[in-house]
Amino acid sequence: MPKALSKLDNIYHPLFEKHKVQVQVKRDDLMHGIISGNKWRKLKYNLKQLKTKQYQGAITFGGSYSNHIHAFAYACKQADIPCIGIIRGEERYASNFTLAWARHWGMQCHFVDRKTYRRRFETEFLSELSRQYPQHFIIPEGGSNALAIPGVAEVITELNKQTVFDTLITPVGSGGTLAGLISGDSVANEQQHKILGVAVLKQAEYLMDEIKNLLTPQGLTHADWHLLTKYHRGGYAKFSQADAERLIAFNQQTGIIFEPVYSGKMILALLDLLEQGYFKAHERIVLLHTGGLQGLGGMIEQAKLNEKDWPIPPKAPA
Ligand SMILES: Cc1ncc(COP(=O)(O)O)c(C=O)c1O
Repeated sequence: MPKALSKLDNIYHPLFEKHKVQVQVKRDDLMHGIISGNKWRKLKYNLKQLKTKQYQGAITFGGSYSNHIHAFAYACKQADIPCIGIIRGEERYASNFTLAWARHWGMQCHFVDRKTYRRRFETEFLSELSRQYPQHFIIPEGGSNALAIPGVAEVITELNKQTVFDTLITPVGSGGTLAGLISGDSVANEQQHKILGVAVLKQAEYLMDEIKNLLTPQGLTHADWHLLTKYHRGGYAKFSQADAERLIAFNQQTGIIFEPVYSGKMILALLDLLEQGYFKAHERIVLLHTGGLQGLGGMIEQAKLNEKDWPIPPKAPA
């Protein structure tokens, strides 16, 4: 478990200079070799719970290239907890980049069709799973549950020690990370900063309710958080050739790798927002790098990215 704070890097880009903003990156991608970024934050208290109670195993959900599945499989192996992944997709994905690693670390993968996968939040479906696998701890897709919130909130505690900032930006998939940041920033119900979430999927407006639901038990209010839903670039894991090229140039300029599914969409949104004059002069912006670089393996495998432009993560042993 990393004891130190994740570091904060200053980055430079001609557009930052033009619009007179200061940009820093919270390098959660460097927190752990495998359980990187928001995975570490969201799993921290879930793993504590798993270890303290007498569970026989853990169950979670994800797509066949899911960063959460990859991180969770490794975390369970480290904690010596048997784990099951309910995977959206067909058995033929079992050897893809992500699942080869997850299975290597001992995850049992159960493949389900889209219709079944859609039931993943239904009480009846979850009760069926509990009957089938008694004494198993069930963690939702993306690890976004109530226990994820205090883990992510620690990003704010760290940032408050490291810097002074106006705006924090994060990519958003299931909403747990954004909810955790809002929670961490709600000191005595008075928000300290503006928090922006860039939705990486289409029609993400429904996430507003998911995020509010995650915040409700704590009774927190924060009036300056926003979910930006127009920067998904065509949908989940979709992006144009021009987007990829813009990102490669940004990565070269800053020396940090942002992948195009999550953190890269945050970067592309940042560049668009700068061009639109969204930020005030002298605004101090922090970007949360949520990791997910294992995903590059799957992207390259599917020829969605060219391996000459991206670092290639190691493959699981056959
Ligand atoms: C690398 C990465 N960044 C960001 C996110 C979005 O986080 P959340 O699902 O908590 O909104 C995810 C998905 O969990 C992710 O894998």
